[in-house]
Amino acid sequence: MDPVKSKYNVKPAEGKLGVLIPGMGAVATTFIAGVEAVKRELAKPIGSLTSLGRIRIGKRTENRKPLIRDFISLASIHDIEFATWDVHGKNAWETAMESEVIDAGMLLKLRPALEKIVPMDAVFDTEWVKNIEPQNVKTAPTKMDLAQMLFADIEKFKTDKNVSRCVMLWCGSTEVFTEISEVHLTVEAFEEGLRTNHPAISPSMIYAYAAIKMGIPFLNGAPNLTADIPAMTSLARSNKVAIGGKDFKTGQTLMKTIIAPGLKSRMLGVKGWFSTNILGNLDGLVLDDPGSFKTKETSKLSVLESILNKEENPNLYGDLYHKVRINYYPPRGDNKESWDNIDIVGWMGYPMQIKLNFLCRDSILAAPVCLDLALLADFAQRAGLSGIQEWLSFFWKSPQCAPGIEPIHDLFKQLNKLENTLRHIMGEELITNLGLEYYE
Ligand SMILES: NC(=O)c1ccc[n+]([C@@H]2O[C@H](COP(=O)([O-])OP(=O)(O)OC[C@H]3O[C@@H](n4cnc5c(N)ncnc54)[C@H](O)[C@@H]3O)[C@@H](O)[C@H]2O)c1
Repeated sequence: MDPVKSKYNVKPAEGKLGVLIPGMGAVATTFIAGVEAVKRELAKPIGSLTSLGRIRIGKRTENRKPLIRDFISLASIHDIEFATWDVHGKNAWETAMESEVIDAGMLLKLRPALEKIVPMDAVFDTEWVKNIEPQNVKTAPTKMDLAQMLFADIEKFKTDKNVSRCVMLWCGSTEVFTEISEVHLTVEAFEEGLRTNHPAISPSMIYAYAAIKMGIPFLNGAPNLTADIPAMTSLARSNKVAIGGKDFKTGQTLMKTIIAPGLKSRMLGVKGWFSTNILGNLDGLVLDDPGSFKTKETSKLSVLESILNKEENPNLYGDLYHKVRINYYPPRGDNKESWDNIDIVGWMGYPMQIKLNFLCRDSILAAPVCLDLALLADFAQRAGLSGIQEWLSFFWKSPQCAPGIEPIHDLFKQLNKLENTLRHIMGEELITNLGLEYYE
């Protein structure tokens, strides 16, 4: 790579990277334990694009396919420090043991590192997440005071751990469904809302506000609006902070964004797509509440509608019936099982069916996404990018994008966008796959 060619001046990844996590449950502890295991060479970072992925550079004849982590400057996994907030007060080892995602033998080896991670008291409100009994919660007269308490937490962590940069990753529960209202429209209205305890400001928004105010990239692993409101995107632009969301793309939705673009590219019709899940972790319990389920359902439903697009393809998808069900079923814990029945239509209208039965592990799929997002958001910040990072859509179920444009859901288009963004930042030629030059 010739750095002179790039118009970006990517600052080096010097010093430690603090990963700040509101919500230390199954996903967060699987992510943290995995990072600690990789640091000690006890496990491989499977599923992580930034750890294992390669990127083609230049012409096919050049055969240049460096690892992404050698192509761009990323923080080393050894330089990551974690800080978390949660209502339960249990350390990361206890929480990981209770989550039953990683086996106890492995957790025993990581116990000294994990026990040191004790969540700070949370900004929490039972109006926004039901089905959880909160214990360690911050109290203050106003929501602005709560934001200031978060500033203080972050400053203290940075000093105590000698951290030079941070990213914040929301791994908290899915909040009750809400829509954009007046208080979310401008930074001024939002800050006034914080001072007057406006009920439409959720806890996740207070964390996002604290991060963006402090110049820390914010990423939203859940489908809540959080930073997907004009006040927050405009604050991110003016404070020059990278943000992204929403809702980690794992499991059933990941499969949808792999299969649906394939069917559509071959002009095969889809009449119905019925998706059902069973899962028995705390996330499943929270999603058993209709308010939180509605937030998740909206996120899950948008994917197919956008990829198949009824209006543009009435012959193929005009009758599409899409249904998503999530059932809380404790015996399975984090080992979700999903079933998809896809009624497809071929030549002359002949019906066919696809059955998909995915026995996945929710947090095992989400953890590498957490790592990639943390490292790439830190890279974006060092490259001087700010506001919504649409090139990170690859990792999201409901990718945040500029107002007035449709999000891209197709996993392969998303990967292409991500790779071309990296090439662009590094001053390398974009790849169009035209390839006519090989035949001239
Ligand atoms: N696992 C996946 O594949 C996946 C995929 C997409 C999205 N998600 C989302 O990621 C989030 C985490 O999933 P999980 O399985 O770890 O859930 P979890 O229930 O195990 O953990 C969530 C944690 O967040 C805490 N919490 C809730 N509100 C909080 C607040 N205001 N401040 C601090 N902590 C708070 C809860 O106490 C809990 O410990 C959920 O919103 C889930 O919907 C998960």
